[in-house]
Amino acid sequence: MGATVNVNGRITPQREAVIPVFDHGFLYGEGIYETMRTYNGRPFLYDRHMRRLRNSARLIALPLPFTDEELAAQIRDTMAAANVNGAEAYIRVLVTRGVGDLTYDPATTPTPSVVTIVKPQEDPPPEAYERGVRVVIVEIVRNHPDTVNPIIKSNNLLNCALAAQEAIRRGAFEGIMRNYRGELSECTTSNLFIVRDGAALTPPLDSGLLPGITREYLFEVGADAGVPVREQVLRDTDLFGADEAFLTGTTRELVPIVEVDDRTIGTGRPGPVTKKLLEAFRRRAWSA
Ligand SMILES: Cc1ncc(COP(=O)(O)O)c(C=O)c1O
Repeated sequence: MGATVNVNGRITPQREAVIPVFDHGFLYGEGIYETMRTYNGRPFLYDRHMRRLRNSARLIALPLPFTDEELAAQIRDTMAAANVNGAEAYIRVLVTRGVGDLTYDPATTPTPSVVTIVKPQEDPPPEAYERGVRVVIVEIVRNHPDTVNPIIKSNNLLNCALAAQEAIRRGAFEGIMRNYRGELSECTTSNLFIVRDGAALTPPLDSGLLPGITREYLFEVGADAGVPVREQVLRDTDLFGADEAFLTGTTRELVPIVEVDDRTIGTGRPGPVTKKLLEAFRRRAWSA
């Protein structure tokens, strides 16, 4: 089933959704986005996604032309047109600098473009949760925070796209990126956690990564489930020596990692701490 797209208020099927070539989102990759999903038909953790969207906008000096309530109404309209037939929805909101001249000067782009894409949410296959997945550490280094800061959820995705394509070439479910210091940062579309001595550990924001909403939520899920969740600088050896590992993301929840670069993590099966956190996460998400 295709997507339904709202481009500046005009809702159409995917194949009719267009953006002008002179939009600086297309010309220069100047834009930001959020990916959300619904549980029971309602966008999950909407306020947190809006907070991150506003922070991304601030960091590229892009004025957002809507209130949270106005955007929520636009998402509702698009979801109604998409009619996902009782399935949960995937929602992607993009805001670009807008249409302008062939110059970086924002004076030529007075009106940001706002796009909402809605389609049925597609979960990873059940085997990913039951057996765990194989990932690789990729050669592409995560953007240095003083270049395009990974804190910005930017449409300028070349860094992650190249890393993801390397992972795909190597037949892996995901690619883990290191930062410029050689520390582990995150995956190409998800955050990384390891489990050691019963605690879940994830690289700090200073390691140069997107502050994932699922990652942030997991600190609360862990507190509920009696699993300590902490930030810690992680290196290759921490991952290879971990008891368990998993990745997190809005559309994937928590996916157990059982193999990295052909080396087995822990027992090679999804571990008890990962399972406990996934169950606690799902309990909270479905009852939110
Ligand atoms: C680079 C990157 N890291 C982490 C995440 C996970 O973030 P969230 O939990 O907010 O979906 C994403 C999501 O797309 C991402 O693109």
